[in-house]
Amino acid sequence: MNFISLVVWTLESNCFIVYTVMIVLFVAFTMFHKNRLEENQNRIGLKKKFANNNGGREREHHDDEDDPDFLVPAFPEDTPHIPYKPPKRPMEDVLRRSLDYYELMAKRRTVRKFSTEPIPQEVLDNIVKTAGTSPSGAHTEPWTFVVVQDPSTKEAIRGIVEEEEEQNYARRMSRQWVTDLKPFATNHIKPYLSEAPALILVFRQSYSWRADGKKKMHYYNEISVAIAAGFLLAAIQYCGLVALTSTPLNCNARLRDLLSRPANERLELLLPVGRPHEEATVPDLIRKDLHEIMFNV
Ligand SMILES: Cc1cc2nc3c(=O)[nH]c(=O)nc-3n(C[C@H](O)[C@H](O)[C@H](O)COP(=O)(O)O)c2cc1C
Repeated sequence: MNFISLVVWTLESNCFIVYTVMIVLFVAFTMFHKNRLEENQNRIGLKKKFANNNGGREREHHDDEDDPDFLVPAFPEDTPHIPYKPPKRPMEDVLRRSLDYYELMAKRRTVRKFSTEPIPQEVLDNIVKTAGTSPSGAHTEPWTFVVVQDPSTKEAIRGIVEEEEEQNYARRMSRQWVTDLKPFATNHIKPYLSEAPALILVFRQSYSWRADGKKKMHYYNEISVAIAAGFLLAAIQYCGLVALTSTPLNCNARLRDLLSRPANERLELLLPVGRPHEEATVPDLIRKDLHEIMFNV
């Protein structure tokens, strides 16, 4: 038996295995190329989308990750560095201010019953401007603050949150979680969402688009938005208003649609802001002592 006859004999006697291997290889090859084709089409689609949003002016940019020679920073590389000289306070002033600020912040409480008294727009502008001074990964500023004062929009937000929260309390949250919330006397009914004069919805952008059409990644966007939210809460406290920090579970898509926010944004926090209702109460909580949260090395 020569070599060719041997190969033919082997294929014939194992034809089931041979056909199976060929089919598997064919499927794997097709899947691989389908994925590559989809990736390319997505890239072209994104470029076209940008071109449409950009009045049809598509800007050419090379795929920087593939070719480091074309890497361009999001800000000009020659951004000037300017002197920074904040007032140099005597250390006794520093001490007094640190204590004053602690005492102010120690009085902050989460309030769940609000007065309907409106907040001047300038106050809302200032507290959101303060949040916008927060540090962010590579200065990407990955936040959007949507301030809602319109009564019908507040009512619509309340409708969505109450519907989802009813499901959350009934079956999405663990029984331990629901039990842990009992001291706070919370449930799915949220009158404060229509009563508070303003709702600030904090959205986190995981990416955005540069002027040249390139996708801009927002490094450390989660912690950056968390810090900005801290600045916002501190500003609210400093000016003498109160807030309720809330994280409406499973409401992202519906609230994002309601408020026409883009797909790169995700709802992180919903903060009713205003003055406390004169009958507002708060649970009598005790905070951890310094020695429990601080270790000096
Ligand atoms: C990330 C986060 C999510 C929260 N979510 C809710 C919420 O959905 N509903 C609510 O009533 N309180 C919520 N709270 C408020 C906490 O219950 C409150 O901060 C905590 O009980 C401590 O009370 P204090 O803020 O008065 O110090 C949330 C707080 C944080 C930081």
